[in-house]
Amino acid sequence: MENDVKKKPSNTDGLSRVDGRLKVTGRAKYSAEYNIKGITYGVLVGSTITKGSIKKIDTKLAESAPGVLSVITYLNAPKIPGYQNAPAKGPFKIFYDDQVYFNGQPIALVVADTFERALFAASLVKATYAVNTSFQTDLLNNLSNAETPHNGKDYVRGQEDAYKTAPIKLEAEYVIPTNVHNPMELHAIIARWEADDKVTVWDKTQGVKSTQRSIATAFKLPPDNVQVTAPFVGGAFGAALRTWPHEIAAVMAAQVVKRPVKLVLSRADMFTSVGYRPYTWQKIGLGATADGKLVGITHEATGQTSAYEDFTENTVNISQLMYACPNVNTRYKLASLNVNTPTPMRGPGEATGAFALESALDELSYALNIDPIELRLRNYADTDPSSGKPYSSKFLNEAYKLGADSIGWSNRSQKPGSVLKDGLLEGYGMAAGMFGAYRGAATVKATMAADGTLTLQTAVTDIGPGTGTAMANVASETMGIPAEKIKVVIGDSSLPPSPTQGGSNITSTVGSAVHDACIELKGKFGTLTGASGTDKLDYVILLKQNNLPQLEVTTTSKGGAEQGKYAMYSWSVHFIKVRINPVTGVIKIDKATSVADCGVVVSYKTARSQIIGGTIMGIGMGLFEDAIIDHRYGRLVNNNFADYHMAVQADIPQLEALFVNKPDPFLNPIGAKGMGEIATIGVAAAVANAVYNATGKRVRELPITLDKVV
Ligand code: MOS
Repeated sequence: MENDVKKKPSNTDGLSRVDGRLKVTGRAKYSAEYNIKGITYGVLVGSTITKGSIKKIDTKLAESAPGVLSVITYLNAPKIPGYQNAPAKGPFKIFYDDQVYFNGQPIALVVADTFERALFAASLVKATYAVNTSFQTDLLNNLSNAETPHNGKDYVRGQEDAYKTAPIKLEAEYVIPTNVHNPMELHAIIARWEADDKVTVWDKTQGVKSTQRSIATAFKLPPDNVQVTAPFVGGAFGAALRTWPHEIAAVMAAQVVKRPVKLVLSRADMFTSVGYRPYTWQKIGLGATADGKLVGITHEATGQTSAYEDFTENTVNISQLMYACPNVNTRYKLASLNVNTPTPMRGPGEATGAFALESALDELSYALNIDPIELRLRNYADTDPSSGKPYSSKFLNEAYKLGADSIGWSNRSQKPGSVLKDGLLEGYGMAAGMFGAYRGAATVKATMAADGTLTLQTAVTDIGPGTGTAMANVASETMGIPAEKIKVVIGDSSLPPSPTQGGSNITSTVGSAVHDACIELKGKFGTLTGASGTDKLDYVILLKQNNLPQLEVTTTSKGGAEQGKYAMYSWSVHFIKVRINPVTGVIKIDKATSVADCGVVVSYKTARSQIIGGTIMGIGMGLFEDAIIDHRYGRLVNNNFADYHMAVQADIPQLEALFVNKPDPFLNPIGAKGMGEIATIGVAAAVANAVYNATGKRVRELPITLDKVV
């Protein structure tokens, strides 16, 4: 057990989701599903203009509709303490003033005794506006207005724009449209005030502690007076990383009507209320020698943000980090548009950046007539090219090999559009991804009860990856007890603190805290026996012999000094095989294999699901997803599941997730790195590269719809 880092759990580790039965039998309760006594229902009313101000808002009809308790607008909303000294640019302040910054912006909240009555009354709220027709919603028309963000800085390593004078040079522009997280579970919150200065919320959030802090700050409450509960979250992907205006509105409304308020966003609301992956323009310049050594990389990107707040992401960073290249420079800009603020979406920035960089590498491979994997190997970074630090671990080359063997890369033709089988064009593509590996601080309480049940408690949420299952796996191995004997209690702000679930860091952070807590608990049992070896402790007998009802520890654990000494990243490679109808342009994914170098896999089944889910998201990004605004009105036209296309069962073949499964010796005691983001980063490029290999058509603007390949 002391040798956890060197131990390699096998890829057939069979622990199923500890909460799987609760989920499939409908007993797992999501935030909208709590039956709270005296509950009332809120429905938001959105602005129908894109820029301007509210001249008049008529709520009389709505207020007199049956069952209506209140109609809240900027005219009557209670003042939110946290809004008062907020900086001019920042999170959208709901019901704060008459200004309209984007179409669909909430301008009223109707609260009624039933959902249907609230919905009906919401239709009766009528606003008239002073319309400002100068609104801008089209990123590509606003590239020249983009500016370097406030805290941003151009990056230069070696010589700027060195690609321009390289023997072989390539320059191309890439565009991704807005992608929306759209988890199955709608964002929802129930707010109930317990006293004038105490509130409970059942909320869809990735972080109960961060939501506790946000609500406490907004309403000027001691954090302990805000209770946040989220034991189950039905997908989030970044959309529930922050506390959004609708959450503040629900807490506010519960104060106004003096009853609990439930606010569930509609699917249409989801497109304008909880962020999205921003529309982004990119330009890549690559310079190389004839034998495929990169001489220079220049990566420019402009993403969109809202008119009221800057949202930045690491779009260009991947070009600074991915390959050994002496000359790299990047420029990142933002264009402020009349849209709501974007937010991190799985592989935030990197997924966008990897589409451009990894497409460009593929283009270069054809220009040089070098196999795309071989080209990457010729530019493989053995130390971090930006900091010069050694990697804590990197087995990307092994991942290339695993994936290539599995997809049948040797069957690929280097000549695009040259393989026609059964009337379909066949092609293979690959692309790599990377994402920082982190370990934060978390506190875990571990309690061994007299019956041998181990309870693990910490505030972390599980947004889907199977955090509780990973925790049970780590504890089972460390304590030497079966997983059935482990109870995981998570998702409540009253539990010992854990960070927000996001940035692929939770298994590393919380898994390690579980590990450390278990080691400490075993140590405590060890002192009961006086024995030196602690491997064969019988906890039940020891408790009984010592007349103890239970033994518990509360352990805080975090990363140490090694974090500064090494460059820490997870790596992935995605292989896609496509079959394309040359007449209709219909693209079918024939096979997809993703390989992760994410350290030790602590929970094989959930890890596999995590990688497969990320691949599907990347295929969606590559082939389908596109939130379309009609720029004449600044309004979304496909803000529903019928018109916003996502990958469905019929689009997805059997997917393969493979793992290098070698421990990272430095990040943490369990040897695991993150895998949530790398599952998606690079997939869209792999799809585009496969489409090119099949057809000879290079599509640089996502999604790759059939009209772009015929
Ligand atoms: Mo995520 S984009 O780390 O929730």
